[in-house]
Amino acid sequence: MLRTRRLRKSEAIRRLVRETILSINDFVYPLFIEEGTNIETEIASMPGIKRFSLDKIAKELDEVVALKIPAVLLFGIPSAKDDEGTETWNENGIIQKAIRFIKQNYPDLYVITDVCFCEYTSHGHCGIIYENDVDNDATLVNIAKQVISHAKAGVDMVAPSGMMDGTIDMIRQSLDNSGFANLPIMAYSVKYASAFYGPFRDAADSAPTFGDRKTYQMDPSNREEGLRKATFDDEEGADILMVKPALSYLDIIRDLKNNFDRPIACYNVSGEYAMIKAAAEKGWIDGEKVMMESLLSMKRAGADIIITYFAKEAAKVLNK
Ligand code: PBG
Repeated sequence: MLRTRRLRKSEAIRRLVRETILSINDFVYPLFIEEGTNIETEIASMPGIKRFSLDKIAKELDEVVALKIPAVLLFGIPSAKDDEGTETWNENGIIQKAIRFIKQNYPDLYVITDVCFCEYTSHGHCGIIYENDVDNDATLVNIAKQVISHAKAGVDMVAPSGMMDGTIDMIRQSLDNSGFANLPIMAYSVKYASAFYGPFRDAADSAPTFGDRKTYQMDPSNREEGLRKATFDDEEGADILMVKPALSYLDIIRDLKNNFDRPIACYNVSGEYAMIKAAAEKGWIDGEKVMMESLLSMKRAGADIIITYFAKEAAKVLNK
């Protein structure tokens, strides 16, 4: 008889033949930073995750560094919004201040910024509205302004998430022409129009006030289009290709891993976090085990980098 169970007999042999190893080195931890003072607001649908003002964030950053998490991904919540999201390129905007604060006080912590407009526009869409839809090429001009202002503040990597065509080309050229040829881009390449972003939109106050994001984010039915989109970003010079969400899109992560010679990232989004937290709170699942198993599945699918709200908790488990 052909027997597979021989190599499962004890923990020692299971360790020897283990194919996928999750590591703290894989994690990026998202942070919500709000304009103002004395803010430390728990997000109802994301237990354990908070919005911080800059004066309150040191404790959180100390913990991230102590846990040896290599990187954070910053989201800003401004005090004022307008039609275009002009606050995104204000050199004293919340993200610019946050980048400077972190690089000054935690120089070894790698800082990535989410480059988008939805938290900054009065209508909640990811760019400039023209005739009830986001105008692609007009938005690209503002993306360049936003990216350059992050670069000047000292960011380590930018991650455009708005799904406008030509984004990577526009950013690469702008950075190169402004003396930032060495600043890398992580492209939200295959980002689906997903209901799993629900809790994030509460957290970042970024839900669209009309319509949805289906004219720019991808249809969850499409797999081959994902490869096409990633090909464009790859050719335009993205350094890292990302798939988002993660859990319902493990097939897409594997597609990218098999087809591109670039590091692949995935974003374990807010709704995926909320589901596990809620079921664990009810005592219906073992939250810690399900967390580790789902992160492992992303790595096994092919993700080299996992952006996750679980980063701190998972790091504690891995440090045990
Ligand atoms: C901004 C952005 C979103 C997320 C990351 N960047 C929201 C959206 O596209 O509506 C979602 C992250 C999450 O759900 O955890 N465009």
